[in-house]
Amino acid sequence: MRFAKSPSGKTMAIPRHLAIIMDGNGRWANERKLTRTQGHRQGVVAVREIVTNAIDLGIEYLTLFAFSSENWSRPPSEIRDLFGLLKLFINKDLATLHKQNVRVRVMGSRDGLEGDIVALLDKAETLTRNNSGLVLMIAFNYGARQEITAMVQHLAHEVETGRLKADAINESLIAQYLYSGGVPDPDVILRTSGEQRLSNFLLWQAAYSEFIFVDCYWPDFDRNQLELALVEFGCRNRRFGGVSVDEMELTPNALVSGG
Ligand code: IPE
Ligand code: IPE
Ligand code: MG
Repeated sequence: MRFAKSPSGKTMAIPRHLAIIMDGNGRWANERKLTRTQGHRQGVVAVREIVTNAIDLGIEYLTLFAFSSENWSRPPSEIRDLFGLLKLFINKDLATLHKQNVRVRVMGSRDGLEGDIVALLDKAETLTRNNSGLVLMIAFNYGARQEITAMVQHLAHEVETGRLKADAINESLIAQYLYSGGVPDPDVILRTSGEQRLSNFLLWQAAYSEFIFVDCYWPDFDRNQLELALVEFGCRNRRFGGVSVDEMELTPNALVSGG
């Protein structure tokens, strides 16, 4: 684990992989008597900021939940807005991301997306494929249950066609066949806006993630908010089912076995 000092002198732990449920654009706008569209637009400003801050802090993987499989139940005009903003973001920011050495990966289903969006997503992935800096995973048209279902279908097909033995299926193979294949599990899943749920995000990958819920709406999530969250992460004791090093010295078994 890497540590850094926040400007206020507190210790932040830097996650290798930070995943964010960017929530609260609508309420942010509502409180300001603005339209939801304006809230989403301000959300994109916060996206630019988090990418720059993640690079600056040396975070290796940043996953951003931008559009869920369940967000199709929103009014068509809002869906159009969200898709329009994704297009705008890629069109406007792809060159900058490339210059920042960011590798873009999109996780989610391409089904139901219009051809021009798919082409843009492909372009972003292809252009930045060989970059070695921050890996930016954009979860778009993403749902964890859909991801798991697709993985099961894929593996079942491999078994059906004889390319895979059922007994060879193990945790690492499953992880490999998810959209996030090759990416380590998130150390932190952070959700803004005060809601405390996963909303179908990274169900498999979240097995040992630390959850951090902050009250501020996504458009207000700035460097200071990020630093506070990383200070909080630094206070967590991740045991992964074991015992922490401090506790180990106190357990009778450890004493008996000489530590
Ligand atoms: C997050 O903000 C953006 C997306 C889900 C696409 P919301 O649009 O969910 O904002 P609230 O939760 O209604 O405030
Ligand atoms: C989760 O937020 C999805 C994204 C942030 C893209 P929602 O606003 O859609 O989640 P619920 O409906 O409050 O659970
Ligand atoms: Mg919401």
